[in-house]
Amino acid sequence: MTNWYETLDGTQAQVWDRLTQGANKRAHVALGTVSIDGQPEVRTVVLRDVDPKTRSLELYTDLQSDKITSLRNNPKAAIHLWDADLALQIRVQADVTILTGDAVMDRWNAVPDHSKNSYGITPSPGQPIPESTAYTKKPDPAVFAVLSCQATHIDAVYLGDIHRRAAFSQVGDWTGKWLAP
Ligand SMILES: Cc1cc2nc3c(=O)[nH]c(=O)nc-3n(C[C@H](O)[C@H](O)[C@H](O)COP(=O)(O)O)c2cc1C
Repeated sequence: MTNWYETLDGTQAQVWDRLTQGANKRAHVALGTVSIDGQPEVRTVVLRDVDPKTRSLELYTDLQSDKITSLRNNPKAAIHLWDADLALQIRVQADVTILTGDAVMDRWNAVPDHSKNSYGITPSPGQPIPESTAYTKKPDPAVFAVLSCQATHIDAVYLGDIHRRAAFSQVGDWTGKWLAP
């Protein structure tokens, strides 16, 4: 029997399976972007939805957060997931579309009430405040944004007894190739 990590197709299928499971479990992933002054930046976000068929992922954020400024300037992102159970590192490069308003009201309506508080902070996220608690939260659908991430490149590292690394690219029609780990 062939194990998933022994073939490129098996590895790619496992990557999307793990990402899908991650979304089902609301896994925390790292989202990397580039700031307007060219600085790399990374933060934790919740993986909300994954569609292996379209190779796309969804994240939610506040439209007034700094990452939106970065993404408007450079709509590219990296998403990182380390699956310790499987010993699999997944890195996805993606083109990001920022969705708001009517296009995301179905997602907004499905956000639990207590979580809606994360969208609608005054002053805006990242603004200086005189004390640590000098802010208010009021759910505001107008600042709710969905980051629709279309994968363009995937790098997978499997740390089994024998380490294996594979790369898959939109440019290469997703056929994939092995890399030295
Ligand atoms: C466990 C955890 C989960 C988080 N989930 C999200 C999330 O889903 N979306 C989000 O915008 N920020 C989330 N945050 C907050 C971000 O890490 C970050 O602090 C915030 O979005 C501001 O980032 P920015 O200034 O780079 O835009 C989360 C933070 C933690 C610690």
